[in-house]
Amino acid sequence: MSSVSAHRWSEKYPHLGQGPIPAEPCVSEDFYRREIAAVFNTCWLYVAREEEIAEPGSYKVKRLAFAHTSVIIMRGKDGAVRGFHNVCSHRGNKVVTESGEETYGHSKAAVLSCRFHGWVYGADGALINVPEEERFYSCFDKQQNGLAPVHADVWEGFVFVNLAPEPPQSLHDFLSAYGDHMSGYPYAEMDYCYKYHTYLDCNWKIAHDAFAEAYHVNTIHAGSFPDVFSTGLSDVQLFGPHRTCGVCLNMNTAPEPVAAIAQKHARGSLVAKAEGTMLPPSINPSAREDFAFELSVAFPNLLLHISEGIWFTHQFWPLAHNKTLWEGKYYVRAPRTNSERWALEHAQLLQRNAWLEDTQTMENTHRAIASGVKRIINLQDEEILIRHAHHVIAECMSAAE
Ligand code: FES
Ligand SMILES: [Fe+2]
Repeated sequence: MSSVSAHRWSEKYPHLGQGPIPAEPCVSEDFYRREIAAVFNTCWLYVAREEEIAEPGSYKVKRLAFAHTSVIIMRGKDGAVRGFHNVCSHRGNKVVTESGEETYGHSKAAVLSCRFHGWVYGADGALINVPEEERFYSCFDKQQNGLAPVHADVWEGFVFVNLAPEPPQSLHDFLSAYGDHMSGYPYAEMDYCYKYHTYLDCNWKIAHDAFAEAYHVNTIHAGSFPDVFSTGLSDVQLFGPHRTCGVCLNMNTAPEPVAAIAQKHARGSLVAKAEGTMLPPSINPSAREDFAFELSVAFPNLLLHISEGIWFTHQFWPLAHNKTLWEGKYYVRAPRTNSERWALEHAQLLQRNAWLEDTQTMENTHRAIASGVKRIINLQDEEILIRHAHHVIAECMSAAE
């Protein structure tokens, strides 16, 4: 008989309790408004990879609809990464015309020029040129009319912003032990990215929760990964508002013949076993042979997963109490041969199918909870990451009120 307690995580983290959690925060408009203020407007939020703005003068614009804004992340000639609201100081037009949730650009001179009347800003946000400036009045002060700055900082190549006028913590202090745990992985070396996004009619927490447990793998992923993963987690660790765990393989399942060939050609599959490791020593501390990937959450809305030869993120951006933008990005080393490229495409297609399976549950969950028929959500021990997420949000809300 196994000596592992069926309640091991609640025994490790008794402050989270064992009872059901309320369903109302997932569907309430009032809760949503307070949550945006207490969580999203005060926490550090991941918005860009440094590789996306590698050159001086490169920039990325990321929409943050929950705050009715978008932010420009720009690298200056001095190499520094800075953040600004994408709002012109003249008549409020968007300085960079956006082409979607994410917009990329590059300026050789490292300046931003508003398309409407041609005001020009430096990469430090200063207003440096105003056409026909003499027609403005003596009260107009160029120095007071730079771009509105947004706090931005970088951890392991991940660019975060904080919309608070004065963030309560630096990014380093915010990530703290979680940042240490997830550091030392070669993120930047694997910059060949497959990206997906979609809009879901559900609360952002319902989307987060559907990705934050492995209890569903045998049911939801019977198509993409039949019998491949274990439903239990390994090495759950909570770091302040952040959380992490390992997801493990069912070692008795052999890969499908085509998957087995793909796994020989490239490291791009979550389920391939590999010689040697690229994982930092903090990951898989119990050295489990069946370890597949680390499933971690940087509070509030970044799921960061790392494995051998592949890492990926999910992000859940609130658009309304019942609407969420989901973004999934999957990173591998760029293929060097056609067979490597084929193997990576194969691995990615399986992963894409799994994500389609995951996202398929979310709108139904939201609609069913919104009916009001069930007032509580029952969680088992292996759903501890969800319990922790709701606990942290409740703590943020009570601290803010
Ligand atoms: S609104 Fe930007 S230059 Fe006029
Ligand atoms: Fe899943």
